[in-house]
Amino acid sequence: NKLKLIGLSGSHRKDSINKKLLDAVVQELPSDVTYEYVDYSNVPVFNQDHEEPLPSSVEDFKEKVESADIILIATPEYNGSIPGVLKNGIDWLSRPAGQSSLKGKVAGIVGASPGRGGTLKSQLHLRESLSHMDVEVPNQPRLMLSFVDEKIQDGRLILNEQKRDVVQNLIKRLIDTSNRYKKDGVLV
Ligand code: FNR
Repeated sequence: NKLKLIGLSGSHRKDSINKKLLDAVVQELPSDVTYEYVDYSNVPVFNQDHEEPLPSSVEDFKEKVESADIILIATPEYNGSIPGVLKNGIDWLSRPAGQSSLKGKVAGIVGASPGRGGTLKSQLHLRESLSHMDVEVPNQPRLMLSFVDEKIQDGRLILNEQKRDVVQNLIKRLIDTSNRYKKDGVLV
């Protein structure tokens, strides 16, 4: 059985550098992993009063995430943390109580910034939240891309060889972790 990886962006804007980062990362996926970009920009602002029934956009989002083995999240840092839109999406995925779409998933976190920071704080906060939800996020390798504007050519983000190595190691780690889960059938 092929593994399925989905990509989520913490930014919905058209020219998002984090969407471009996702595009660059998935170039390195082996051919036996399928990929789908999941756009959840139509998911409403979370409100616990609207959980029953779930909005259809949320149903669709949850279904797509549940179909995946691995979730790759590329996110900016907003004010030293996770963008609200991403946290909002994750909060929906965690609901209704006991029906989290993220349980037992493996997630990889990457991020790009135009400045020096490279989204480190955002990644740490996201890791903390995902771990709280029993999502397995490998600790290493970490992909943080700073000064990204210099790395865009013809609208695409170009990774240098060193970063491509990091990407390949990250992908390998995500696949190994997911396969281990599948084999054991339980979270360890
Ligand atoms: C930012 N940006 C930003 N960058 C950073 O490195 N650390 C930060 O704390 C913040 N804070 C922040 C807050 C808000 C509300 C915005 C809109 C932006 C800049 C951010 O990295 C930049 O806009 C990126 O281009 C956003 O990512 P996308 O949309 O290009 O993927």
